[in-house]
Amino acid sequence: YKNNNAIALSLTAALLVGSSSGFAATTWKIAGGDSEGSSQHAFGLKFVEQLEANTDSEFSGQLFMSSQLGSEQDTVVEAGLGTLDFSILAINNVTPFSPTVGVFTLPYVIQSLEEAELLTQGEVGAELVENTVNDAGVRIVGWAYTGFRVLTNSKQPIETLEDLQQVIVRVPKNEIMIDTYKAWGGNPTPMAWSETFTALQQGVVDGQDNPYVTVDAMKFDTVQKYVTNIRYIFSIEPLIMSESVYQAQTPEIQQAIIAAGKVATKHSAEFLTANEARIKQQLIEKGMVINDPANGEKEWIEKATTAVWPKHYDSIGGKDKLNRILRLLGRDEV
Ligand code: MLT
Repeated sequence: YKNNNAIALSLTAALLVGSSSGFAATTWKIAGGDSEGSSQHAFGLKFVEQLEANTDSEFSGQLFMSSQLGSEQDTVVEAGLGTLDFSILAINNVTPFSPTVGVFTLPYVIQSLEEAELLTQGEVGAELVENTVNDAGVRIVGWAYTGFRVLTNSKQPIETLEDLQQVIVRVPKNEIMIDTYKAWGGNPTPMAWSETFTALQQGVVDGQDNPYVTVDAMKFDTVQKYVTNIRYIFSIEPLIMSESVYQAQTPEIQQAIIAAGKVATKHSAEFLTANEARIKQQLIEKGMVINDPANGEKEWIEKATTAVWPKHYDSIGGKDKLNRILRLLGRDEV
């Protein structure tokens, strides 16, 4: 009887593991800085779906959106320590822990979704995966794409750099972005993403920048009125995994994770293409007023590239590295 009982028990366990109805043997925690409906959320849902499909539901993930598990920068530390499994966050919040990823935040380098895909999914992306493993103990296993970060504020339309001086802008705790606003003559106030909505609501700061999709998902239209269509950073938002958790998996499961990340990456590009224009229109209907920067953004581009690029050559891994990227993008070298 003992043996029969043991067999019955292990059969039940096998059935539970094999079921796709939420009985995964392992459910990983996945943090997300943005709210539901964001590009991070769309990416996360697809990743979990694929992870379950690739592992016969032995592994799943639970999404904790809206910075429930801490600020985006805190989640990098947690994942590095192995106390958090995954996090989906903007690349600018990885930079303080692995400076070479800053190359994706250098103003006016990436100028389209296609360029973002080319760089993240090619040789440059592979190098950055290696660097973040070594520097921060986290592995990038997928990339979400969220579009250009546009400038929003509650006070007035902004078209020129003179206009910009009239507002206080929250920026991420990211040296490249802080330096960019300084080069523009602006008033950057570094602050965690998780504190930004409240700071805007209470008027501690007047504005911030993030993509249309994020502005909408985070309901910033309820606390912001004006938008300036700057295109200084195309927002790339990787899924990072704790390297110690990754290394504890079998090669098959590691493969399943990477494959799920690839599908979610492709899905993210499709999500952006399908939704960005509609979301922008929706924000106009909700009362947001959108302006283009004066002069085709010329002054904004000149000030940012001449002051910020040279200052950050070293942190991003050298001027040669930037030139390699510019060549890949078919642009003039510096
Ligand atoms: C930030 O502004 O800190 C991030 O880009 C926010 C985000 O992850 O959407």
